[in-house]
Amino acid sequence: MSVFKNKNIILGVCGGIAAYKSAELVRLMIRQGAQVQVVMTQSAKEFMAPLTFQALSGREVRSELFDLNAEAGMGHIELARWADLIVIAPATANTLAKIAHGIADDLLVTLCLATKAPLLVAPAMNQQMWRNESTQMNIELLSRRQGLSLCGPDAGEQACGDTGPGRMAEPDNILKSCGNLLKSCTESHESAHKGLRLKGKQVLITAGPTIEDIDPVRYISNRSSGKMGYAIAQAALDEGAKVILVSGPTALDAPQNAELFLVRSARQMYDTVFQRIDSVDIFIATAAVADYRPIKKIDKKIKKNADKLTIELVKNPDILKDVAALLNKPVSIGFAAETNDIESYALDKLQRKNLDMIAANKVGETEGFEGDNNELHLFWRPRVNKRKSHKKTEISSKKLPYASKKQLAEQLIDEIVLLFVTEAN
Ligand code: PMT
Repeated sequence: MSVFKNKNIILGVCGGIAAYKSAELVRLMIRQGAQVQVVMTQSAKEFMAPLTFQALSGREVRSELFDLNAEAGMGHIELARWADLIVIAPATANTLAKIAHGIADDLLVTLCLATKAPLLVAPAMNQQMWRNESTQMNIELLSRRQGLSLCGPDAGEQACGDTGPGRMAEPDNILKSCGNLLKSCTESHESAHKGLRLKGKQVLITAGPTIEDIDPVRYISNRSSGKMGYAIAQAALDEGAKVILVSGPTALDAPQNAELFLVRSARQMYDTVFQRIDSVDIFIATAAVADYRPIKKIDKKIKKNADKLTIELVKNPDILKDVAALLNKPVSIGFAAETNDIESYALDKLQRKNLDMIAANKVGETEGFEGDNNELHLFWRPRVNKRKSHKKTEISSKKLPYASKKQLAEQLIDEIVLLFVTEAN
């Protein structure tokens, strides 16, 4: 998805011959999914008609600091708050100087002073004006105080006949700089909201399918790719957890820093989990464990002599159920993969296996397994004393709508942290 999607951008246009290029910039931003509000200085209107920007942005151009109509709707302070990004292109020496020194005598400068949004400027001016010590000092001041981002200016032939730095950067390049700035703001916003909320916690995750051998060349398994479990392992690592990943055979690379144990059968998965469970705080069973295995593995390849062949199966141990039955059980989260009656089967597993939470998902030929996306329906009960079972009532639920498994994993970890970790600390 474009980083511009649904972003609110104020495009400030100052008076300069390069103002005509800003029309193209509006078009590019809108095409990327942004909402663009153009704000023109008085001198910008000498170069470009506001109507052009209005037609391209679908919004009335704003210029006046005190405009009765505008203040009745979205006033200048609301507009400053509305913005996710302010871009000034072209930015003149005059406007840069006013922002640097806090001279709020027009709408554009006022918005720059009143906003928390990042500011990107694409200067355009005569090369000597750009080189002037005052301009350079203002740029430095803005970079230090407001974290200003600069795009350009480019060097070359100028409209006044000079040659040197001062040409406005091309709209394509300004768009790229805006994209990078929005991306880094989104990332730092996300990491500020995350932190390391699982620091000091051990999370054990089972993932992928298990394989139950019939003979040396044939086996019973399922379509689990491991993607969901590996994404959860990564999301837990991102929150600072120590992660133990017990995985059936998959084609995936394990997340760096996870302690990986590769297993084949349900019984191997069971043993590997129980060798490590004592120190585990949170257990998440994402694996599609085979419920049954052949009662015995035939040593040699079975010959196809008979018209009918019966393979007797025996039930595998239930890893999740046994973990949740431990006296000192970790927070126990299961998954329910169902083709039908998802909610009732999931609730049954939540109760029967004495889980803290279950993530239900629909599986089928095109759903749940293998793909990069999924949707989950979470059901949980408040955590009670480890030795007691949950009461039958008090079940809460939340739908995590269709999204990438990476996003779902992050949301699931977020819910687990909020419900079971923060509360327990
Ligand atoms: O791996 P992907 O391709 O990304 O697909 C993800 C997924 C569909 C496999 C995953 O989202 C999922 O639903 N995993 C659980 C699959 C499953 O086996 O569900 P179940 O309803 O049969 O089992 C219920 C729970 O008990 C599960 O948490 C399972 O891990 C656990 N279990 C089941 C049997 C058993 N012997 N031991 C267990 O621990």
